[in-house]
Amino acid sequence: MAVLVTGGAGYIGSHVVRLLNERGDDVLVVDDFSTGIAARVDGLSVVDLDLAAPDATDRLVDAIREHGVDSIIHFAAKKQVGESVEEPVMYYRQNIGALTNILAAVEATGIESLVFSSSAATYGMPDVEMVGEDLDCRPINPYGQTKLIGEWMIDNQITASQMRGTAFNAVKLRYFNVAGAGWSELADTAVMNLIPIVLGRMKDGKAPIIFGDDYDTPDGTCIRDYVHVKDLAEAHIAALDYMKSGGTTETVFNVGTGTGASVKEVIDTIAEVTGRDIVPEMGERRAGDPPALVADVSRISALLSWKAEFGLEEIVRSAVEAAGMLPEQK
Ligand code: UD1
Repeated sequence: MAVLVTGGAGYIGSHVVRLLNERGDDVLVVDDFSTGIAARVDGLSVVDLDLAAPDATDRLVDAIREHGVDSIIHFAAKKQVGESVEEPVMYYRQNIGALTNILAAVEATGIESLVFSSSAATYGMPDVEMVGEDLDCRPINPYGQTKLIGEWMIDNQITASQMRGTAFNAVKLRYFNVAGAGWSELADTAVMNLIPIVLGRMKDGKAPIIFGDDYDTPDGTCIRDYVHVKDLAEAHIAALDYMKSGGTTETVFNVGTGTGASVKEVIDTIAEVTGRDIVPEMGERRAGDPPALVADVSRISALLSWKAEFGLEEIVRSAVEAAGMLPEQK
């Protein structure tokens, strides 16, 4: 049996594909290569498909039958907060429309397990520092809203399948701040998040900008929970195995380390790892940034027996190495 990985040519998806291959699972990648990179899935079975296209369900059903797919990991989606505010319709189409097509294909083929990429963005601006899964979700942008709607769609499908007496299970993973590279060639090439932005600016001879240092945190800068992409990838494998062994107690899990790092700490770590002095500029606060967002990871640790192996230093080192910026790479 094979695992269908949508967005398998993307940053996180390609890490999961690599792990599945390593453990000998058959993999079928579905990607439209809008942001995915073909070289990341070289030599694998690939269907080039926009999951929001009108014929997507039919093409998925054919691919599922042809390749003997029995589970799906769904990454393919839009994920830029700012863009989602400017172009919400694109987010409805690509995140909600595509998931609708996938669920229709699941229903038509009797697929029993789905892992869904959700996000800490579903929580919005929680007023607690440590975020547990039972907290009220109040996403503050269309991106986070489409992820929460996706979770609801999946829950509705689980209920409908129980009513029909069919066995559809799903796990929704709410990622915190994903960074680093498990393999340099699979590194994040989009310069959208803190670590890639800082490294990109250093390459251009520019100082990083800290978006606000007057937050109510120990050093005044925002705290986030940075999780290594390889650890995150392992969480997907754990989620698949959990469903295969009949686990259905909970369906939504935070994926983080349970430990926060401030923007200053991240920049200091980049300075240490690259061996370069970094003097950041202080900028204005960025709208919509919660002061601190750290995952409570007790649920995933208890039910999926998953725990992050890597810390901030290893995350930063892997990203710096992928960027060719370790001192010995000069
Ligand atoms: C962002 C998304 C979030 C998404 C997550 C994972 C926003 C508002 N949030 O989280 O929805 O789930 O990515 O993809 O886009 N920072 C600087 N200077 C910079 C860049 C960032 O100080 O040049 C700070 C930010 O203000 C923030 C922290 O670094 O405090 C992390 O920023 P970022 O990497 O953009 O992630 P989040 O905003 O936490």
